[in-house]
Amino acid sequence: MSRAHVLALPAPAQGHVNPLLDLSHELVKHGIKVTFVNEDSTHKQIMKAQEAKGEENKEQVGNDRVQLVSIPDSLKQDEEANSRPERVVSISEVMPKKLEKLIQDINEESDNEKISCVIADGTIGWALEVAEKMGIQRAVLFWPASASFLALFLSIPKLLHDGIIDGDGRPTKDQIIQLAPEMPAMRTTHFLWTQVSDNLNAQKNFFNFIMRGSKNLESKDWVICNSSIELESPAFAFAPKALPIGPLQGRKSNQINHLAGSFWPEDSTCLNWLDLQPDKSVIYVAFGSLAKFDHTQMQELALGLELSNKPFLWVVRLDINDVENYDFLKGIEDRLFSRGKLVSWAPQQKVLSHPSIACFLSHCGWNSTIEGVINGVPFLCWPYFADQFLNETYICDIWKVGLRLDRNSGIISREEIASKIKQVLLDEGFRGRASQLKEKAVRGVKYDGSSNKNLNNFIDWIKGTK
Ligand code: UDX
Repeated sequence: MSRAHVLALPAPAQGHVNPLLDLSHELVKHGIKVTFVNEDSTHKQIMKAQEAKGEENKEQVGNDRVQLVSIPDSLKQDEEANSRPERVVSISEVMPKKLEKLIQDINEESDNEKISCVIADGTIGWALEVAEKMGIQRAVLFWPASASFLALFLSIPKLLHDGIIDGDGRPTKDQIIQLAPEMPAMRTTHFLWTQVSDNLNAQKNFFNFIMRGSKNLESKDWVICNSSIELESPAFAFAPKALPIGPLQGRKSNQINHLAGSFWPEDSTCLNWLDLQPDKSVIYVAFGSLAKFDHTQMQELALGLELSNKPFLWVVRLDINDVENYDFLKGIEDRLFSRGKLVSWAPQQKVLSHPSIACFLSHCGWNSTIEGVINGVPFLCWPYFADQFLNETYICDIWKVGLRLDRNSGIISREEIASKIKQVLLDEGFRGRASQLKEKAVRGVKYDGSSNKNLNNFIDWIKGTK
């Protein structure tokens, strides 16, 4: 008898790989075979991280595991160094043919495990066109961010029609809009495509790429979304196409699976260090996989943490931090890090669930937001780009589980950092609301929760029993 076989395609970024991997593990638990396809450079990075941790090579895995494979992306070395959004565009031009070939090869190899379903990240809608061309009837997009962010993409035609953006995606003025009452407010100059590059041509290319992708989002009856009705019911009412199946990180089994897709080896020594700290005392500082700091800002952050007089655990990714930044941190290590610990990549979910964590100073990527929420941790928000400002609005204005940091002349000062840390820690209201939100957030993925029911229906659909 043939078995359902899913081809899962994430976008090439940690915040996209992790949740799709969580979903893939869920499918495997239900007897579905999953082949997880990264483009070459991402795949190599994941394998390197696993080797550095001394883990077995996950390429050779059995039927009970997700199989990680890669397809060549033909990127030149300078393109590999490009920012991820630019890569997403450049990859979309070379990948469809390679994906076709991969599907052909897999199907030739096995008669009873041919690819029967494609699940592609919401930003790589071209994969659906490939699926259609190859006669694969089940193909769906997976949205790893909030339903509000999806609603923004689906609203692009209306934004154009209403003159909020021009034909190149540029906001006609800097203004705050709301897609529907009770949905989070959005600032037009924070729209993703305006922030991917300072170069107007690159912005325009990215906007056109998003426009093409939005057509794929619109063409489907539903898009599975890593969020829940409990977290953002107005957004799901506004965009009924979005089918909530999350938060996948709220399912207990997924904490361990994350590790298999890490782009960098986690430094688990920080868990022992956390064991030595008092309950609810540590500021966890992490900015995801893409955000970059300039030297002045890095310095203010270090000095702000010092001024706060609290223990802290700070993730400073070595790949993006130039020597000047790193030398500066090293120079003050003795003074500063008597109360703190620096790691280049942390086992974030384990860190956030540790009892010593008091507050999460975060860039507010959707995964980090969700991971903080399901652990009942209050936030200090430091968004950079993409959906992060939108998530900040959820945290500060809608859920009221954190505070934003004010920027004067573009810089967040050490005094501002220290003072907001104090405010979040002293005001018990943040912790109380964060605990209530935690209960709400995990309700959806419990046995009779709405996200869990949707996920089970989705699994039946993949298996062809629905
Ligand atoms: C990107 C975008 O920036 C984000 O806004 C969007 O919602 C998803 O894609 P990223 O910046 O990496 O993601 O942030 P985030 O969504 O928070 O994902 C980061 C992931 O890396 C999380 O799952 C987090 O647990 C993990 N992580 C982060 C670690 O495992 N260790 C770390 O030290 C830091």
